[in-house]
Amino acid sequence: MQVFHTVNGLREILRKHRNSGQKIGFVPTMGNLHDGHLALIKQAKQTNDIVVCSIFVNALQFGLNEDWDKYPRTYDSDCEKLDQEDCDYLFYPEDSEMYPNGLDTQSRVICPTMTDVLCGASRPGHFEGVTTVVSKLFNIVQPDEAIFGIKDYQQLAVIKRMTEDLCLPVKIISAPIHREADGLAMSSRNSYINEDERPKVKVLKQALELIAEQIKAGDLEFTQLEMEAKKRIESEGFKADYVTISNRKTLEPAAVDDREITILGAMYTASARLIDNISINLD
Ligand code: PAF
Repeated sequence: MQVFHTVNGLREILRKHRNSGQKIGFVPTMGNLHDGHLALIKQAKQTNDIVVCSIFVNALQFGLNEDWDKYPRTYDSDCEKLDQEDCDYLFYPEDSEMYPNGLDTQSRVICPTMTDVLCGASRPGHFEGVTTVVSKLFNIVQPDEAIFGIKDYQQLAVIKRMTEDLCLPVKIISAPIHREADGLAMSSRNSYINEDERPKVKVLKQALELIAEQIKAGDLEFTQLEMEAKKRIESEGFKADYVTISNRKTLEPAAVDDREITILGAMYTASARLIDNISINLD
């Protein structure tokens, strides 16, 4: 695998592949790669001739009191893993390469819907940071396809919407959630979970699953179901951020006649914020 630190270097090599008719797949990440990320690379390899991964811990999507400085940076082991997956190129830029004019005056990409609810409500500005960096990365790599995990469901929905709104010539592909043996969704932030909490964090998935079963059994008292799920999370000692039964496409609260529903949840442990979601079809 060849590593590029500059926009120009990466562009030059990718231009050659594009000109010779090769299809380019792209997996943007913030590093600390786990099996979930590697599954995205595997998926990209299946439908593309060339696969590019990026690792960039994007300060623009972290709030002032969030974990940008302690976010796990594991460059050497990430490179080994990408090599094993036969990833072709890694883009690993410095902050100054991505934001040469500084963060404060950086032009932004704003998606006005879906970004101030759910995770956006607790993390103001987060999605603006995501859409800005993802559109920059799309402009740098110019991929045919970009692959994102469903674990970050709201991020995926926002990126799909941004891509559609801005007519970006990139096909957005979604990849299933990868889970630990007890059901916990894989995330780089799982390394923050302390030993005492680790056996209990599966409650987030369990609470969402119970809602899914109840809805399928005909219980459409959504507000009540959300409240009960939050209580269940809190009974294990965690702080529920939100549990929301949403319309899958708009992420607005689901109506009782919605057929495609996504149940999303987020909770705080002592030192991590965890998210998860489950989608159900009622037809
Ligand atoms: O999901 C992530 O790792 C990040 O939000 C992304 C999409 C790489 C943008 O920084």
